[in-house]
Amino acid sequence: MTGKKIIIGITGSIAAYKIPQLVRLLVKAGAEVQVMMTPNAKDFVSPLVLSTLTRKPVMIEMFDENTWSNHVMLGRWADIILIAPASCNTLAKMANGLCDNFLLATYMSATCPIHIAPAMDEDMWHHPSTKANLQKLTYFGNVIIESQFGELASGLIGMGRMAEVEDLVQHVQGFFLQNSQLAGKEILITAGPTYENIDPVRFIGNHSSGKMGIAIANECARRGAKVHLVLGPTHLSANHKNITTYKVTNAQSMFEQCVALFPQCQIGIMSAAVADYTPIEVATEKIKKKTEAFAIALTKTKDILNHLGSIKNANQILVGFALESVDEKNNAKEKLKAKNADIIVLNSVRDTGAGFGHDTNKVTMFDKNGYEETFDLKTKVEVAKDIVNKIIIFGKI
Ligand code: CTP
Repeated sequence: MTGKKIIIGITGSIAAYKIPQLVRLLVKAGAEVQVMMTPNAKDFVSPLVLSTLTRKPVMIEMFDENTWSNHVMLGRWADIILIAPASCNTLAKMANGLCDNFLLATYMSATCPIHIAPAMDEDMWHHPSTKANLQKLTYFGNVIIESQFGELASGLIGMGRMAEVEDLVQHVQGFFLQNSQLAGKEILITAGPTYENIDPVRFIGNHSSGKMGIAIANECARRGAKVHLVLGPTHLSANHKNITTYKVTNAQSMFEQCVALFPQCQIGIMSAAVADYTPIEVATEKIKKKTEAFAIALTKTKDILNHLGSIKNANQILVGFALESVDEKNNAKEKLKAKNADIIVLNSVRDTGAGFGHDTNKVTMFDKNGYEETFDLKTKVEVAKDIVNKIIIFGKI
């Protein structure tokens, strides 16, 4: 963990007494650790011990008489923030955007991944509001490190005990390892719809939002890849420093951009909903409403996945999507073969919560070696992780 920058946020919970040991192990492993505490946490563990271990003052207050501490820059400085122990109270504040102390202000302005190790008594752990807060925090993209079963501060035995210090160290190590899994790889990703112009003011399009492709781009970037995101017209965008976005409008411009970028990439993931047909002619003036019936002559667009499948070399991995409404599995397997892809991700429009516009998706993945796996309905962020994991396993990366 040499040179890694870690913020440890301690809140008011008995488990705080274990944090000096956690900090000691992280520092020993080479990390630069900055400790922050909520004012309540001071009652559970000594800031002096922690500042001695980290050789940095522990940050508790936003300002004293003379100085104001810059929570924004600290949130950008860190590679990871680990809030441990995270009390029921702090979880509730985080889930609802409250920021009445330095740690919460840093959380709210952080750009790095946030990992949370809750600690509380069993009844609080099982309370529906805690469950809802944890769900909300997961939805925001935070990672929850599950509490464990064991002896609690109340003397009761049950769920709610903070993960052991050794587990937390392993978790942080795993995080940094995963972060560099795709280092050195360049990945081409298409996302969003395409708009095929009919005249200067009208187009043929579809309801794709680009959410799935952007989630995959973020996940690849988070794991250290250099990502080229070829994005159709959508109001969404990706903003990870490892992602370069190429905005395109129609199938032809998406095709050209992909053809230019694919040779330098080791992986291609085609998640865009590309129009299959485009008007043969685009009217130069707005078409007037004259006749009762009106037809537009269309011609096939170039199939990007198919083309990249025909030019890919043995070291490139190509992933396609299949959006189907009938005989889904067979159609997906056929597309895998016909387009010479390595992996195909099937969405069925018959699954509720899956497909265009939703925050969730339900997929089945196939690879060219006969692998098939159906996943549960998950957030698109989680589905993106499954897809990237599959690519890593397939490519033995
Ligand atoms: N695709 C592409 N270029 C196109 C059309 C599709 O790259 N012009 C890609 C999609 O990004 C997806 C895969 O091909 O990865 C399958 O897309 P899908 O719309 O499910 O299938 P089509 O090949 O268009 O066939 P059909 O519409 O007949 O099901």
